[in-house]
Amino acid sequence: MLFVCLGNICRSPTAEAVFRKRCETLMLDLSFDSAGTSSNHVGETSDPRSIRHAELRGYSMTHRARQIQNEDFDLFDLILTMDDSNFGNVMEMFEAYSKSNPGQGLSSQKIMKVTDFCQRAELDHVPDPYYGKAVDFELVIDLLEEAAEGFLQVLHKK
Ligand code: 4NP
Repeated sequence: MLFVCLGNICRSPTAEAVFRKRCETLMLDLSFDSAGTSSNHVGETSDPRSIRHAELRGYSMTHRARQIQNEDFDLFDLILTMDDSNFGNVMEMFEAYSKSNPGQGLSSQKIMKVTDFCQRAELDHVPDPYYGKAVDFELVIDLLEEAAEGFLQVLHKK
């Protein structure tokens, strides 16, 4: 599964780390990666604030930022975006790609918002913490842990 945010230095690499750890604990054989819609931070390690807050909860973040590319639509069965803006940008890119590759049977249903898996949260997106404070980075992890639980429940019911 691929997680997507804007810069790929805060939310989506955190999502990758949280989902990886939760799924690995259950010995689920899934692959995890993340990417940004923008190229602004390509090659950078994750934001030190994200790394620190994740570490406090036992998650390790070693990702280097990259930009989402068309190949990702072939490689991943599930692409989870963080907010409406990421979702819209990824959908736009997907529509253009699937139009130019009509025979491949690509489905836009594999593109969702990660919060679609949240069952209790009042928010329908993971807010961008980049200009925020510690509580904003904590909220990112709260939402992603809830989403990971919801995702595992959906898997369990299948
Ligand atoms: P992310 O956060 O999309 O969660 O990685 C951001 C990181 C950088 C910027 C914005 C959001 N930026 O404007 O540089």
